[in-house]
Amino acid sequence: MDKIVIQGGVPLHGSVRIGGAKNAALPILIATLVAPGEHRLDNVPELVDVSSMLSLLGRIGCPSLVHGDAVRLDTSRVSFCEAPYDLVRKMRASVLALGPLLARCGEAHVSLPGGCAIGVRPIDQHLKGLEALGCEFELSGGYVHAKVNKLVGNRVVLDFPTVTGTENILMAAVLARGESVIENAAREPEIVDLASFLRSLGARIEGDGTSTLRVQGVTSLAPPEETYSIVPDRIEAGTYLVAGAITGGDVTCVGVRPRDLEPVLEKLREAGCQLELGTDRVRLIAPKQLKPVDITTLPHPGFPTDMQAQLMALLSLAGGRSVFTETIFENRFMHVPELMRLGADVQVDGNRAVVTGVASLKGATVMATDLRASASLVLAGLAATEGPTEVLRLYHLDRGYERLVEKLTGLGAQVQRLPDDLRGRMLSELAATA
Ligand code: EPU
Repeated sequence: MDKIVIQGGVPLHGSVRIGGAKNAALPILIATLVAPGEHRLDNVPELVDVSSMLSLLGRIGCPSLVHGDAVRLDTSRVSFCEAPYDLVRKMRASVLALGPLLARCGEAHVSLPGGCAIGVRPIDQHLKGLEALGCEFELSGGYVHAKVNKLVGNRVVLDFPTVTGTENILMAAVLARGESVIENAAREPEIVDLASFLRSLGARIEGDGTSTLRVQGVTSLAPPEETYSIVPDRIEAGTYLVAGAITGGDVTCVGVRPRDLEPVLEKLREAGCQLELGTDRVRLIAPKQLKPVDITTLPHPGFPTDMQAQLMALLSLAGGRSVFTETIFENRFMHVPELMRLGADVQVDGNRAVVTGVASLKGATVMATDLRASASLVLAGLAATEGPTEVLRLYHLDRGYERLVEKLTGLGAQVQRLPDDLRGRMLSELAATA
């Protein structure tokens, strides 16, 4: 397994091109199932999660061709209505197969995603919504077995604006008979992108970006002539802006939609960063001293949980105390013990973390158990002024950040990806404790 080695303390400067959003690409790839034929997508990020989704589509009977960020996908035939355990285990977003498979085949067998590192993550709201559209479910052998004779539009009121839950219900509702209304729907930019993609297939959807989605079901959908381009990744962009801020640098993210980043930009401004916004770019100039900021994660347009860990790395160097409140996931402070190994001062109490800024961070060997936690450790490593930082278990980063080392190197970071010498590490740890 590889590791990333960072010599921190170098202010980052320059521009970085942001890729397509992982969390828009995943639902859009599987949504192609509702329109049989050949689909062309671009700005698809080159990530392990995207390869996993294409493997799932391949297993279902839909082959694909990938060329850089362009994907061609043939959904003319479906031979298998199942998302098997070996794929769902690797990527929780495979649960997104449920809605499109039900709409396409009238049945779906999807392995239950189960718990994951950041919390329990049940799918009761997905099932409640699909049930309202006429689907029946049976849970057995670790699978959701679902079937429906005819999807019929209905009103669904979600208990919580779940992102993938809203997407699953939306992907089924576009082919249901009559009108569906999804109340308390998620409003994330990735939902808006999925709705735009579905509209390009002929779906009739209104209200995306608000809490009420209205769908007039149609009898069939077809791939458009034009190539569909995935929305830019606001979380990748936010992560590089924090890389600029935490190193005292000057970083411009290019190919972004600044309005999607607003909840994150607002907190960066409060922390003292200077921001310049263009139509497709955001420039961040770091302050001499960061100011503390309180952050509460919320569904969009609140502050995104997917940026909480990165902001915590940043504010560990602020001049004062910042309070983080995580309201989306019950176990999303796993980066805290690792940040503390680099010298951060954080105290966790339930879903609150109090971060008292320190003067500097020091390099250490760290690893994380989820994607955004891993990103926060890379950021802290970029700021650490004494000794190198080694970030282990890179498969999380590979799931969500394309060409991370290349992009950071382009901004002047001293960072390398190397094979992890596990034996050497164990020997030196043994020598140190002897
Ligand atoms: N929830 C339920 N029941 C449900 C669905 C969700 O109780 O049926 C709860 C969850 O347990 C959680 C909360 O609702 O406490 C929010 O979960 P949500 O369903 O909105 O999250 P998700 O759809 O599973 C997506 C992203 C996550 C991102 C969250 C929140 C994708 C593929 N994943 O997950 O992205 O953190 O929304 O914005 O879109 C990441 O990219 O690192 C990542 C984890």
